[in-house]
Amino acid sequence: MKLTVPQITAATSPLVMVTAYDYPGAVHAQNAGVDLILVGDSLGNVVLGYDSTAPVTLGDVIHHGRAARRGAPDTFLVVDMPFGTYHTGVTDAMRNAVQIIQQTGADAVKMEGSSPEVLQATATLSRNGVPVMAHVGLLPQTATAQGGMKVQGRDEEGARQVLKAAQDVQDAGAFAVVLEVIPARLARIVTERLHIPTIGIGAGPHCKGQVLVTHDLLGIYEGEQKKIAKRYAEIGALSTQAIRDYAAEVRGGQFPARENSFVIKDDVLDKLY
Ligand code: KIV
Ligand code: NA
Repeated sequence: MKLTVPQITAATSPLVMVTAYDYPGAVHAQNAGVDLILVGDSLGNVVLGYDSTAPVTLGDVIHHGRAARRGAPDTFLVVDMPFGTYHTGVTDAMRNAVQIIQQTGADAVKMEGSSPEVLQATATLSRNGVPVMAHVGLLPQTATAQGGMKVQGRDEEGARQVLKAAQDVQDAGAFAVVLEVIPARLARIVTERLHIPTIGIGAGPHCKGQVLVTHDLLGIYEGEQKKIAKRYAEIGALSTQAIRDYAAEVRGGQFPARENSFVIKDDVLDKLY
């Protein structure tokens, strides 16, 4: 059963969110019983092969959002608004958000940050029927400006900034807020002070919910595990090995075997000679 916005806001048990970018990913997430699915612009990194989320376009998230929705019709679906699609005024933000909602069937959109432009867009969208999930702490779309992909809110000034950002997005009307890569005890304070749920990634155990990039938790890419994620499988290694096995069988003549092949009757075949 798909959660509603009031149910998410009032949730008493931990909220579980994962990313999905296509039909099979969304099918797996829904079958696993997650509470929310995010079509994150991490799409750019883990699916499209960019080295940041900045190149991801509105067309990209709509294309992938539609596929994810088809795979998870009964799960609350959030789609990230890409970099540059919500900073140029509330009219643009509303138009782009409505495009996402109408063309993907998403239940909500997510925007990064708490600049005056983002707060205005958050207020306008929430007031007009587009639920907004906010995102504070580390902001991948503009991480270069934050000094790179590093922990936010470690000193007093930074911690106050994160607290204020979270309070501001709540006041603007966001129904939930992602806290990305901030100290665990700061996330605890933010979670205690807000009445909307916090959903953490690299933000410790005290958040109301947790989100992970599915490709990280599945181990789609071999190599070192990220500190903020935990690998629950080694799908990348499994995939490579399976394709290697297939290649070896084709080269060795074991595949396709008789059971993978179709038959033709002898009398039909005789007529061909
Ligand atoms: O794009 C994404 O996957 C995200 C999550 C990490 C919160 O924004
Ligand atoms: Na994102």
